Amino acid sequence: DIHDHGAHVAAAAESRWAMVVGAIILFLLAMTAYMSLHWAAMPPVRTETIDPSTLHIAGEFVEGNLGTALEPDGAVTVRVVANQYSFTPQCVVVPTDTPVTIRATAADVVHGFSIATTNVNMMLVPGYISNFRTRFTEPGEHLMPCHEYCGTGHASMWAHVQIID
Ligand code: CUA
Repeated sequence: DIHDHGAHVAAAAESRWAMVVGAIILFLLAMTAYMSLHWAAMPPVRTETIDPSTLHIAGEFVEGNLGTALEPDGAVTVRVVANQYSFTPQCVVVPTDTPVTIRATAADVVHGFSIATTNVNMMLVPGYISNFRTRFTEPGEHLMPCHEYCGTGHASMWAHVQIID
């Protein structure tokens, strides 16, 4: 009779919805599995971390290790620490026509690192080492301002870069 028919239609509608929901769940599971595999297959992100509270005591960024260092292969590494409101060292000297790797980090808050009129530009985040590889072709003097607001002294936070032949 009519009531049985109604119950039958309702049951059919319900099982259709159950199938739709099941399909959505399967799709999401498949997506999750795919994304996991996708990311697992990617090369590891080269993130270097460092403890900002012990920068001055031990490791790569102790004061005596800052500035320009000549590597055995003739390349140059420049290490800089930023804190409110200065860079250490205050003046960076680098040679022209030499591969330069800048390695820098922040001791307190997020700072910006840029060398005026060059493409050198990165963020310095406490806990992380930022890397920038470049090569300077022209000798000259450049300002190296902090370009990320870091507090009341931000506007006066800058260093100098001297590129020499
Ligand atoms: Cu450091 Cu702005």
